[in-house]
Parts: sequence; structure tokens; C-alpha cells
Amino acid sequence: MLRRKRLDEISWEDFNRLSLEEKAPYLVQANGRPYHVLIAQQFNREQLDGLCDLATRIRRIAKSKEGMRFLSDLLCHKRAMLDFTQPSSRTFLSFYAACQILGIRPAEVRDPSISSEMKGESREDSVRTFSSYFDMIIMRTPLQGFVEKMVWELSNTDRPLPIINAGSGKDQHPTQALLDIYTLQRSFEKNGELANKHIVFCGDLARGRTVRSLSRLLTYYPNIRQTFAAPEHLKIGQDIIDDLAAHNVDFTVTTDFKSTIPTADAIYMTRIQDEWDKTAGESSHFNLMDFALTVDDMKQLPHTSVIMHPLPRRHEIDPAIDSDPRAVYWRQMRNGMWVRSALIATIFGRDQEITHYYMMNLK
Ligand code: CP
Repeated sequence: MLRRKRLDEISWEDFNRLSLEEKAPYLVQANGRPYHVLIAQQFNREQLDGLCDLATRIRRIAKSKEGMRFLSDLLCHKRAMLDFTQPSSRTFLSFYAACQILGIRPAEVRDPSISSEMKGESREDSVRTFSSYFDMIIMRTPLQGFVEKMVWELSNTDRPLPIINAGSGKDQHPTQALLDIYTLQRSFEKNGELANKHIVFCGDLARGRTVRSLSRLLTYYPNIRQTFAAPEHLKIGQDIIDDLAAHNVDFTVTTDFKSTIPTADAIYMTRIQDEWDKTAGESSHFNLMDFALTVDDMKQLPHTSVIMHPLPRRHEIDPAIDSDPRAVYWRQMRNGMWVRSALIATIFGRDQEITHYYMMNLK
């Protein structure tokens, strides 16, 4: 368990200088539960197992009217602000639904052009304003480092509150990684635990923040081989490579995606993310279809493997593949609602109550 350190006892400059591992103890509560959710590095294997189990319990409890009544009473005294200033469908809606499942009343800002930011107010002041009215902020932003800055800033006011990173620039998307782990665990549970698997990441690995978070969480599982298949100019960042090497992970970086298919246990496709960031350069000098999965490619993929995608997709998975039992990306998306419910319940200390209800009524 991480021993808690306090954000109001460290300057922004000193906090900002820390490595991600060193930042992790500042994000937890005294009892070890997450408080802020910022980076994959703040989770350990025990917490991942706990969140996955809790997500399953919530999913099963929510099947009945009685169960939904129980869940929706748990946090009916809380309010959450969903501050999404970068486009989102799944993360926004699944967090919104997770709040509703737990009885939290959600509110949203999706377009700062109709807020007082148009009068010259800073983003920082806007977010501080939310802290006056709400008990939690769930934030998506294109600004690298912004969620982290607000985590520190609001912890140094008289009204600190949990902040969840729902996708921050090119940094990380930790809650996507949690639902990805849940999906992988569920996909392989029939054959034992998530271990001894070959996971292939494909596509825009330079800007794809989901891969940055998930590759780290996968280091907590035994003997997972990771392959990163991307065009040269969109290859996985050196910081991730260094991190995997430091954790003695067996990994490969390649531009030849198609050759990885026959040995993949899971293929994690991503789209080229040029709609919000142009810094990776022109994409016209490579063949998009070299980094796409076609119906023909499916003949090479073992029948026990799974195909994942954080979505949204463009061309990189042929929609004809959707009906293949190995395509789990729609299930993966729905898992997000349960995992995010589990995460919020844990942050507010309601996890044991849910487990108790489950044991008494559904076990
Ligand atoms: N996976 C994901 O983050 O999707 P959205 O951008 O639709 O939220």
C-alpha cells in the first residue's frame, strides 16, 4: 500500500519535478484508496483486482430494481462536475452513467465558449469555481499537464476535492486503462488469469494516451509480452520504452503490424489521432491499411484471441469484423461504466458496503 504524502506540503515546482512513481503517494487517501486519479503508476495489482471484482459486483447488483435502489442510495448526497473541454462520447457518457448508478448528481461543461472564460476568466479559475459547487471533478482536456496542475492547485485551497483524469493531452488516460484491464481479465478468465499473453498495440502510439496507461498496468501481470506496432513517426514514446525496460518487460517495437497477428492473444487497435494534434507530422507517407485489421487478417488470428479498441475508430477495424466473437470492443466500452462506478465508489469509501450487499444477496 502507498503511504500517503500531502500535496499541501510540497510546492508545485517540487511536485512537478517528481517522477510519476514519486507522484503516486500524493494521490491516495490515508487508507490507501485512490483520492485523485491521475496516472497508471498510482495503482498496484491488489487495487486492480479489487476494482475489477467490485465492477463485477456492481454489474450484477444493478441487474435488479432492488439492487439499483441500493446502489443509487450510496452517494445520493454527492455532486460531480464533468468538465470535458475535449470531445468525448464513451468516457463522458460512461462517467455520467456511473454517477447515475451511484446516485451522484452529475453536471457538465463541454463548451467553455459559453462559460465566463469568454469574459477572460482563466481555465484554472473556472475549475476552481467548480470546486465550490461539486464534490468531485472528472476532467478531460487537450492541455498536457493541466489535470495534474489542478490536482495540486485545488489541494492547496480550503476546498480540496477528488479530481479524475478522463484523458489529459498526450499524458495518460488511466480510467480507460482500468476498463481495458477489466476487459482483458474477463476475456481470459476461462483459461485462468491474465498471464503469459502477447498483447499487440497497433496504430498511433505517439499520441494514443490509452496505450501509455495500459502498457504500464500490464507490467503488474506475470509474463506479459508487449508489442508496439506503429508507423515510424507515430511510434511509442521513449519514456514508455524506458519504463518497460526498467520493469524487465519483454517488449518489441516494430513497423510490421501484420507479422504480429498470428501470435497475438490480444490486439489493441488505435486510430490516427490527427484531429487534435498535428505535431506528429504528415500521415500521407505511410499506408493506413498496413495498420488496419481486415477480414482477411482475421484468418491469421488465433481463435482464442481478442480484438480491443478504445474507440472511436475510423478505418482501422473493418466493421465486418464486429460480429466476430473475438471482437470485444463494444463490450470493452460498456465495461467502462462498471469500472468507473467501482472507482468512484472506492474513492468515496463505499466499496465494502457494495461487497457486503453482494455477499448477502447475490453470492
Ligand atoms: N475511449 C475514449 O476515450 O473514447 P471517447 O473519446 O469517446 O471518450
